[in-house]
Amino acid sequence: MVEVPYKYSIVGKKNNNTLIVKVDEDVLEIRQLIVLSDDHEVFKVDKMNYIEFRSDINRLREYAMFIVKDAPEHYKEANLLEQQICELIKNAIRHGNKNDINKKVKVWYSFENRVKVIVVDEGEGFKEVDDWNNFNLARTISIFKQDFENIMNFISWRGRNVNEMDGGNALFAAIEYWNGGIYFNEKGNKVCAIKYFPDSPEYEKYK
Ligand SMILES: Nc1ncnc2c1ncn2[C@@H]1O[C@H](COP(=O)(O)OP(=O)(O)O)[C@@H](O)[C@H]1O
Ligand SMILES: [Mg+2]
Repeated sequence: MVEVPYKYSIVGKKNNNTLIVKVDEDVLEIRQLIVLSDDHEVFKVDKMNYIEFRSDINRLREYAMFIVKDAPEHYKEANLLEQQICELIKNAIRHGNKNDINKKVKVWYSFENRVKVIVVDEGEGFKEVDDWNNFNLARTISIFKQDFENIMNFISWRGRNVNEMDGGNALFAAIEYWNGGIYFNEKGNKVCAIKYFPDSPEYEKYK
């Protein structure tokens, strides 16, 4: 586990996905990846759209575009929605299904009042969520402190199964984008991501 280079204390929680962290006299809100059991309600797929793909990395953008085409225009700001959905599917193809073209990626999605996407792969799963959260905490604090010497240690997170093709940084942006949370099942082969926009009644709570 990476050392957090500052004294900090966790003084509270906001929603189900954000830690309130005190660093010296400052208070930061730092989101976390959450692990939940498969039967948790965030993974319920009733009334969601469904599509499945083969694990063909060359068709990644096509897959993401297919999903995003049904979203309301104002959910597509700066192409971020497509890009963020792309990253989740890319992780399923590369880390989960190991680019095995015969393995499927299943995606459920809905744009009712918010964006909710569930991506399931046939892999062994992301097991290092605690380690990633700890790394992200240390990284966020170092950036807040403008501690450039330390920031260099936090450019990318490298888990056990990475290769040099992996940038190791997509989830840092993802955790900012998906303000309603990123939830993995315990196995780690299913991820649910939720994004609220300003027109949603939940937005104030999650922004
Ligand atoms: N579906 C998945 N199955 C297994 N591991 C995953 C999955 N999604 C994410 N991970 C793990 O999370 C790490 C961080 O993901 P990310 O930030 O997208 O960086 P990268 O994909 O470039 O390594 C990955 O390196 C991988 O170890
Ligand atoms: Mg990735």
